Amino acid sequence: MNDAVAGFSKWSKEQKIDWIAQTYFSNPDEAVSLIKNYWNSDENLQKLHDEFIENTITNFYLPLGIAPNFLINAKYYTVPMAIEESSVVAAAAKSAKFWATRGGFKTTIIGTEKIGQVHFTFNGEIHKLEKFFAETKPKFFSNTEELTKNMRQRGGGISDIELRNKTALMPGYFQLHATFETKDSMGANFINSCLEQFAKTLTEEAENHEAFSKEEKNIRIVMSILSNYVPNCVVRAEVSCPVEDLADKSIDNPKYFAEKFIQAVRIAEVEPFRAVTHNKGIMNGIDAVVLATGNDFRAIEAGVHAYASKSGQYSSLSHAQIEDGIFTFWLEVPLALGTVGGLTSLHPLVKMALQMLEKPSAADLMQVIASVGLAQNFAALRSLTTTGIQEGHMKMHLNNILNQFGATEDERVQIKKHFKTHAVSHSAVVNFIESLRK
Ligand code: MEV
Repeated sequence: MNDAVAGFSKWSKEQKIDWIAQTYFSNPDEAVSLIKNYWNSDENLQKLHDEFIENTITNFYLPLGIAPNFLINAKYYTVPMAIEESSVVAAAAKSAKFWATRGGFKTTIIGTEKIGQVHFTFNGEIHKLEKFFAETKPKFFSNTEELTKNMRQRGGGISDIELRNKTALMPGYFQLHATFETKDSMGANFINSCLEQFAKTLTEEAENHEAFSKEEKNIRIVMSILSNYVPNCVVRAEVSCPVEDLADKSIDNPKYFAEKFIQAVRIAEVEPFRAVTHNKGIMNGIDAVVLATGNDFRAIEAGVHAYASKSGQYSSLSHAQIEDGIFTFWLEVPLALGTVGGLTSLHPLVKMALQMLEKPSAADLMQVIASVGLAQNFAALRSLTTTGIQEGHMKMHLNNILNQFGATEDERVQIKKHFKTHAVSHSAVVNFIESLRK
């Protein structure tokens, strides 16, 4: 157990590393060299990464993989994915290839609206607040003109501001509920700056509003912040083909496959325990591209799962049907993304990822990411309803087990040969390695 540390943030990077090594490791020199092994040899590049956050001691690697052959709206994309879980990239690539020969992914942007709220309390006559808001509304726009100038030039800005009465939820609780168009930026800073100005305008104007009593003038701002729930910033991705065209190496009875597949989706639609795992599979693909393109995966995760609960019960993000002999599989997801600003112009690998995607607009990226989510879901359901998930997953995971046991090159060749025809499980691999080493 160590004592609390004072002034940690002011220590140099070396001091922080030394303290950690001395406090938590029986071999401090080994800990220091491990930490430093992950530093970039280019000092400027390392400094850039150090300064993304606070108290940085080193870099934390995630593999960046590539899923090629994503045919989306008749254009091929090569998709960068940052993820640690084996078999995710392979599954995305496999689905992409499968659908590329069956018309590819078709996507539609349903909306791009972002949301922010000023949460405040008002104690008094509601009709007076409503009248005050209607009179003051133009001022919310005019007082933010400086802040919104550039965004307006790019075709975005504040779309609308509403007064929302939330007193049924909490006494005296109201909101300014504002909607925004932020074009190719995720817009978090833009939205939060506008909201803080709205809050200022609100309190200043209320203080000078003659029709308000002393108490009514005293509007209290609780907080001003964007919402990561963006049910009107949504993209739809779809694949479809005649049922018989689903036939493939491992799908010899396409009708049976399609019906079972639809049942699997239906289960996720009606059963929350399954829905969470089903959607997790979708997020395997979504998060990996969100991360590789420098977007905020926590925001995306929070918003997507809220959207999955919009009916009041957590449910599947994807749906499937057969109509007139055509199998259709689709999903709708809210994705508030940026391809300018934030990390997109700072992180060299993010820049590379965006270049690989041919410098997409935020709307383009929404369409790519939704397609990868759908591809991932297709791959998972295809495995689950046919061979089971472990066959493919464990094949991909085999390398991790071999690394864990420090297998030599020679052992790897023998093990891989053996497991081409035998089911991979952790214990089977361990037993086989042990038998080789005897
Ligand atoms: C594993 O990361 C994801 C799956 O569990 C998704 C699913 O069950 O649909 C395979």
